[in-house]
Order: sequence, then C-alpha cells, then structure tokens
Amino acid sequence: MKKLCLLGLAVGLASLPVAADSKTAPIENKDAFIAHLMKQMTLEEKIGQLRLISIGPEMPRELIRKEIAAGNIGGTFNSISRPENRPMQDAAMRSRLKIPMFFAYDVIHGHRTIFPISLGLASSWDMDAIGRSGRIAAQEASADSLDITFAPMVDISRDPRWGRTSEGFGEDTYLVSRIAKVMVQAYQGKSPSQADSIMASVKHFALYGAVEGGRDYNVVDMSPVKMYQTYLPPYRAAIDAGAGGVMVALNSVNGVPATSNTWLMQDLLRKDWGFKGLAVSDHGAIFELLKHGVAKDGREAAKLAIKAGIDMSMNDSLYGKELPGLIKSGEVPQSDLDNAVREVLGAKYDMGLFKDPYLRIGKAEDDPADTNAESRLHRAEARDVAKRSLVLLKNEKQTLPLEKSAKIAVVGPLAKAPIDMMGSWAAAGQPAQSVTLFDGMSRALGDKGQLVYARGSNITTDKKIVDYLNFLNFDAPEVVDDPRPEQQLIDEAVQAAKQADVVVAAVGESRGMSHESSSRTDLNIPETQRKLIAALKATGKPLVLVLMNGRPLTIGQEQDQADAVLETWFSGTEGGNAIADVLFGDYNPSGKLPITFPRSVGQVPMYYNHLTIGRPFTPGKPGNYTSQYFDEENTPLYPFGYGLSYTDFSLSNMALSSTTLNKSGKLDASITVRNTGKRDGETVVQLYIQDVAGSMIRPVKELKNFQKVMLKAGEEKVIHFTIDENDLKFYNTQLKYVAEPGKFNVQIGLDSRDVTQQSFELL
Ligand code: BGC
Repeated sequence: MKKLCLLGLAVGLASLPVAADSKTAPIENKDAFIAHLMKQMTLEEKIGQLRLISIGPEMPRELIRKEIAAGNIGGTFNSISRPENRPMQDAAMRSRLKIPMFFAYDVIHGHRTIFPISLGLASSWDMDAIGRSGRIAAQEASADSLDITFAPMVDISRDPRWGRTSEGFGEDTYLVSRIAKVMVQAYQGKSPSQADSIMASVKHFALYGAVEGGRDYNVVDMSPVKMYQTYLPPYRAAIDAGAGGVMVALNSVNGVPATSNTWLMQDLLRKDWGFKGLAVSDHGAIFELLKHGVAKDGREAAKLAIKAGIDMSMNDSLYGKELPGLIKSGEVPQSDLDNAVREVLGAKYDMGLFKDPYLRIGKAEDDPADTNAESRLHRAEARDVAKRSLVLLKNEKQTLPLEKSAKIAVVGPLAKAPIDMMGSWAAAGQPAQSVTLFDGMSRALGDKGQLVYARGSNITTDKKIVDYLNFLNFDAPEVVDDPRPEQQLIDEAVQAAKQADVVVAAVGESRGMSHESSSRTDLNIPETQRKLIAALKATGKPLVLVLMNGRPLTIGQEQDQADAVLETWFSGTEGGNAIADVLFGDYNPSGKLPITFPRSVGQVPMYYNHLTIGRPFTPGKPGNYTSQYFDEENTPLYPFGYGLSYTDFSLSNMALSSTTLNKSGKLDASITVRNTGKRDGETVVQLYIQDVAGSMIRPVKELKNFQKVMLKAGEEKVIHFTIDENDLKFYNTQLKYVAEPGKFNVQIGLDSRDVTQQSFELL
C-alpha cells in the first residue's frame, strides 16, 4: 500500500529534467552524469534501481510495466526478445527520470547457437575458438536485446560430484584464468557499450566450486592460501579483463555467506582488486541469509546484504520491501544505498544505455520475423568449435576413424537426443535445431550410409532419478523413457550390432544430470547403460563409445570393454556434425582434458596439481605406510591435459636457455615436437613448473603455459616458452605473492602425467 502511495508521488513529479538531457547532465563525463542524476532521485527511485526481476511466463506483464514506469525496477532477466523487452524499455522511458532498464540472461555457452558446454570449450585449449564462441554469443544475445550475461562461470571444480562442474572450465587455475579473460573480452568486445556487445558478470564469487562433498549450495571452508592460490585467480582474471559485473555466490565462505560477506565484497573485491562495477546477488540469495542462519528476518537480511556490498538484488523481494525503512531509520546509511545505486547506474552507463536505451532493442520494424530462424544461427562456427572440444580417450587397433563404407550400428539413449546435445544452461537454444549424433553421422555418409539404429537402453531405469530430472524441467519432461522392458531394448541393440561392422554407442548422462542442483554420489554411467555396453562388447564387434556427460565419469570398466572412447561432453547445436567429423576422420581430434578423470568416486577430490606430502605413495609398494588407497589404483583413469589424436606426436630435445634465472630476467624453455604419424594434426604442448623446496608445501606441478600446435604428418617444430619470476610466484603463509629463490623443475608434456624435466635455480 505504502509503495503505491509513493508511486503516486513519483508520477506527480514527472516534469523534472530527464536523465539523459545533455544540458543538465554532461553525458560524456560518467561520474558527473551519474552524480547529477542521483541528486534528482527519490529514495524509492534509488531502491528501485537495485531490484532485478525475473520475467517468467506467468509474470503479469502489465503490472511489471507499471512498476517499471513507477521507477521500481532496475533491470530484468529471462525475457529474451526485442518484442518482449521493448515495452519494458518504453515503460522506463515513461518513468519520471527515464532511467533505462537493462535486460539480462544466462548466456553461458552460446545464445541461439549453442556451443559445447564450458567444460567442452575448455577441452579445446584453443583460446581463439573459445573467444569466437563468446563473441558470437554476444552478437546473438545483443541482437535479441540483451545487455548483460551472468557469465563467465569460472568456479574451479575438483569435485565432479558437483553438477555445476559442467558449467565451469575445469580444475586448473591457470587454464581457467586464461579462459576467463578470453570470455570477458569476447562478450564485451571493444567495450560493453557497443551495440553488439554484452556486459560480462563473472560468477559465482566466490569459491562455489568447492562446496562440501560436491553438494550444491553447501558450505565452503577453505584455507586462505588455497583460496588465493587456487580458487580466486580466475575471478580476478575476469575482473582484470574488465568484467563489468560480478555475481555473488550462494555458498558461505569460511562461515559467512558470500551474500553478506563484507570481507569478500569490500576488502577483497573492491579494495584489493580495485573492482569498480556491479555486484549482483544470486537468485533469492538475500532471502537465503535467513536460512543460512545469519539473519533473523528479512529486514536484517537486506541490511546485511547491502552493507556487505550487494548492489543489485536478483529476483528481489527484500530490497524493495525493507530498504525504505532501513534507510529512514538510519540502520543503513544513505551512503551504502548511494554506492549501490551508483554501481547500477554506472553499469547502465557502461552498457551504453543512457546514450541510447534502445541500443540493443532497435526498431520494431527491424525485429526478426522469427527469432528462431535458421538464418540467425552460426552453424559453421559452432561445428568448428565443437570438433575442437572433443577428446579422444582411447583408440585401440585404429578403430577410429571409421570407414564411411562400413556398416555401423548406432545405439544408445543419447544417439538421438537433441535436448541433451545442447547441455544445461542452453540459453535460447532450440532442441529442434540441434544435430543429434545419428543425424550427424547419416549426413556425413549421405546416400552411401549404412546405419542401423537401436536405442539399446534408457538413460536409467531408476524411476526416482527420472522423476527428479524431470522435476527440474519446468516446461516439458526431458527424460522420456522408451517403455519397453530393459532386456528387449538391449536385445534389439545386440541384433543391430551383429549386423554391423562396428558399433557406436552414445552413452552417459542426460543433460539434467550435470546441472545446478544435480549432485551425484555415483560417477558411473547409469547401470542400465552399462549392461548395454557389456552386451555390445559380448558381440565381439569393434565398439566405439561416444560419451556425453557434463563431468568426469568413472568409466574404467567401459574403457576396458570399448575399443575406442570419444569424450564429447554436451557439444551443442552442431554437436552431431562435429562428432561425425571426428568419427569419420574429417577432423583429427585435438582436445585435452581440463579436468582429471578419477577411477572411482572414492578418489574424489583428485587433481593433478596436488600438494607435496611427507609420505607420498610409492607406485608398486602397497602397505608401506604411504598415502594411498589399498583397494584402488592410486592414479587417475585419465590425467589432466590428456587426449589422443589419430596421429602420434613425440617430444625431444628439451632445453633451458640457462640453469639460473635472475629475478628480473627471463628464461627460454624449448622443446621439439614432431608429428610422427601419417596424418596432419594438432596437439597441446603443456608447460608445468614445480617449486622444489619452498617456505611452505607446494604443488607437485602447476600448469604455467601451453601452446596448441598444428603439425603436418612428419613435420616438427621447436616450441618456445618464456619463463620469468611471475611464473614462479605463489601466496605464502602471510598471503604475500612471492617467488622464492631456489630450485625449480620445468616439465613439458602432452599431458600432465608424461613429462620431460629440466631444472634451474632462481637466484
Ligand atoms: C544460478 C545462477 C544464475 C541465476 C539466474 C541461479 O540459480 O545459481 O548461476 O545466473 O540462477 O538464472
């Protein structure tokens, strides 16, 4: 009621100068422009700017527009077309100060054209390809009137039980930091004020990937050194690259929820890192401060959040309701409110919206007749990026590439699965437009094709899991079972296999299994699919597994049964074509794992750059009081950085330009890489460094650089890496970022396990 009265007041003041009037507001000078605007704003208008509202299908559009016109909403998310967003911007232009709205969305791995999930993008180790995917996503999203994305998601994940592992770029600080920078630059282009750019808001700040037990939304309790050394750098890299926004995580950090964490948002983010941008809470996170048990009621929750530095409240209920009282009573100083408002207006300014509120909305006559039109997709680019993201894990007896003349049985619940192809967080992607594995293979074969298809199994026979996965789908069930009995499905697939020269089985997870709120205790391929694989193996036909999944799976048994294994993650709109390119050898696979594959879930967390310990495991010596599991091999199934090619590569002649390095000097590490096989191909030469004896324990190795190189059959190249003091720095026990004199091992390899090593001394 009170709110309505205030709205009335706001409307009554409609004759005041408008925000973008250049006579009264010098638009060229951001600070002066915003200061001038803020002087004109009422308390309610200021609070309105801090409210970010989700536009669901059920949302009463007229009411929203009324609220916008009254100055009660600063931005919305989840409305993703020009005709949807234009009336909202029109409403903002009817508001007293005509402050433009912004329109946000989760553009994570593509907008209309879906690229591989982030874990797949990372598997390409190809910064150019990753950047292209981000730029196209920005172009498509901005053409749909979007101004800002909640991405990149750069949470380091070392626990594949966590479903959102799929959404990040893997386990490694260096690789994820490189990608964070590339993605921010790709989304924002030359500037987030460009019409074809969108602002990036890096998430989830901070440490969300380290939730306890891989259980989503759980606590994070972590030593400061680990935080600084391993988990924080990717967020920092995104911010240093100019990310305009930060989304604050749902988890707590060492006892304090991120959403009310003053240390995180003020001391670290703004003071230490110099972030000058928009901090947005995650969905409903302010309200969740009650559940965390740090706020006794909504009023306290709103107070904690704004004081800690949450500028904008996503899916707001509490800022709108509680801030007026909190400000009037003085419990929240006006300066806290003003700081938040300044950031929201600053972000809108940086998005170019004050100069032109319709920058990305355009004119109605230019709206696409069909937002899903084929002509709006970037298929060629998606196929190119997707093929680079595929990782060949096994290839015995040159099972792959397949002959196009072969008779091929294509089986498995993921062989014809257009929704799963796109992965989770598939933005505006249309399943009907995604190319399935079966379609991709049949197109590659054309008329000559001899494909026989059988589903072979459902995703799982566990009804509880199917129900859970479908409960997460708001629109329509995604996991749709073939009602026939399990054995009948398997028998049909076995019949298909028997008629064929080779079997390609698409197995793994449905996309919802690797998603928000999809934590697993079991990393196996679901049992019914394992039965299918065993039955296919028993036919004696060559067996190729095409894995689709959003996290490392424990596939030891299936790897033994299969002749070839191709990890394809969820590879996007053009996934089927890209996989066919690799299966038939039109593209030689070049992806490398950005995350370790454990042998069993009990080994988790397992990552390559673990710290040194006093009793390291000695291979081949069980029971000798060293750190090990006695019931499992103590190595990963596939190490970080691993991935095969249809050709072979060798490394030789590693050399360091010197055995010493001065603090201000540089050292050259070189190695010859040779394509010793018969096909042209690409590989990733990886440089790792180990600090042999430091003032504290240090990782056994850390990725510090890499180069993806293309070599013709028989060709060789000398690869050079420059090493300087920065590559040797780490956060010590005082959290000082230092390089300590002493011995360093330099290791170069084509994965993190098999490396050649040389040493030097930092003087
Ligand atoms: C997720 C965020 C996402 C937001 C808006 C939340 O549930 O944690 O990553 O940006 O929803 O869709």
